[in-house]
Amino acid sequence: MAEQERWDAVDDYVTSALALADEALDAALGDSDAAGLPQIAVAANQGKLLQLLAEVQGARKILEIGTLGGYSTIWLARALPADGRLVTLEYQAAHAEVARRNLARAGLDGVTEVRVGAALDTLPLLEAEGAGPFDFVFIDADKVNNPHYLDWSLRLTRPGSVIVCDNVVRGGAVADADSADPAVVGTRALIDRVAAHPGLSATVVQTVGTKGYDGFLLARVTG
Ligand code: SAH
Ligand code: DHB
Ligand code: MG
Repeated sequence: MAEQERWDAVDDYVTSALALADEALDAALGDSDAAGLPQIAVAANQGKLLQLLAEVQGARKILEIGTLGGYSTIWLARALPADGRLVTLEYQAAHAEVARRNLARAGLDGVTEVRVGAALDTLPLLEAEGAGPFDFVFIDADKVNNPHYLDWSLRLTRPGSVIVCDNVVRGGAVADADSADPAVVGTRALIDRVAAHPGLSATVVQTVGTKGYDGFLLARVTG
């Protein structure tokens, strides 16, 4: 059995054995596919990891950068208390439309807000509004801007906040210091910035599964 097939089999097994998905989540993926969105949402077991991390954190305010069809948004918003709030930033108006419908069907339109625009334009607006501090940030948009998203996340969080960034391993390419891939360059710049920041405690964890070989950066703001 090829590696990818085995990874798929394990993801399918745990997703079924732990009953991770449900109708709202499956419908969110189905409608995202039907609308022609790329199939790059987090896997169900990864979405559940995000939910668990936000729950352990006791997050009341969550920021997501990169909405797509709102699949990861549903997982994260489910960690919120009834009076919690999640803001998710999306460049493509068509993606945001799909996400809003998916969030409404999941019963989460009351606690979530999808904002359209380039995140580097909408993040300063969030700061100007005093929307922070966010307890939990999930960075999952255009990887070339990852170092900037870290900077903005730091402006919009507080000591104790958690920052998670998706897709930082990229099939192992992250270890290539000579890579010309802008996503790798952006991700290595993110990791350098995390390393240089005295107020961040962080790690990178490699993952395999239906999303291939990739990984998460997990950071806690300490000061
Ligand atoms: N978090 C989603 C997947 C996000 S895919 C999930 O796991 O379900 C990345 C998304 O980031 C895409 O929808 C893409 O349109 C969006 N994106 C790309 N560049 C962006 C930018 N500059 N600002 C905000 N969103 C951006
Ligand atoms: C891509 C983006 C993602 O957020 C992801 O999880 C997988 C792939 C991409 O842009 O190809
Ligand atoms: Mg991703």
